[in-house]
Amino acid sequence: MKILVLNGSPKLKSDTFRLTDAFLKGLNRTGEDEVHLVHVREKQISPCHGCFSCWQRGDGRCVIDDDQNAILDIYREADVIIWSFPLYCYGMPSHLKAVLDRTIPLVKMKMVQNPDGTVRHEPLVDFSRVHTLVICGCGFPHRKGNFDALRAMCRACFGNPTMICVPETPLLNVPEAAIVAEPLLEGFERAGEEYAAALTLSPETISGLEKPMIPMEEYIRHVNGG
Ligand SMILES: Cc1cc2nc3c(=O)[nH]c(=O)nc-3n(C[C@H](O)[C@H](O)[C@H](O)COP(=O)(O)O)c2cc1C
Repeated sequence: MKILVLNGSPKLKSDTFRLTDAFLKGLNRTGEDEVHLVHVREKQISPCHGCFSCWQRGDGRCVIDDDQNAILDIYREADVIIWSFPLYCYGMPSHLKAVLDRTIPLVKMKMVQNPDGTVRHEPLVDFSRVHTLVICGCGFPHRKGNFDALRAMCRACFGNPTMICVPETPLLNVPEAAIVAEPLLEGFERAGEEYAAALTLSPETISGLEKPMIPMEEYIRHVNGG
């Protein structure tokens, strides 16, 4: 199985990527998968120019000569695509969003209607076999609406991806919080095993991983230095 992991945190030591790394350990337990790990912060990815020359040519390539075409080569071959990133202003960090924007060479200008009435561009390659997983960490405690915009965008862009949205992820680098962080990391590793077997996760597994590590009031007190 070919797995593409897009690590979109700009940080060398990403809280979110620690979770993703644990997940990958469980996912590729046998070591048989071909894992392509892309740390987007190390890549040169310009914003999309909006020129649509990719649609005129229809060759699945972007006219901008930077690292995106190499990512597109892996993207179009992958069986599983994992988007790992921290929540930034209720969405994706901008450099990762540039990667997403610049996947448009992989669809055509031609529009097709979905059975539910929504409209999409016809894909250039068959993505129906692709399983997309989103792992997103964030700085807020469990808070109503925090991930709503991101969930809507991911549903629209990726179909119906499996999503794990984790609150309070900065606790992962607080040594005193290891007692609550370690079980979460172990949970991610087990989830990776579950995903390897079924290419999806049960709602119970997802809600277990999204559970706040500590109560909201305690987290806010800690953040505020109290
Ligand atoms: C520019 C910026 C925007 C952010 N926006 C949000 C946000 O909208 N909601 C939230 O809960 N956390 C937000 N955060 C906090 C990060 O999601 C949080 O620190 C996360 O744990 C960082 O993960 P990482 O170590 O994987 O990069 C933001 C952080 C930055 C730097």
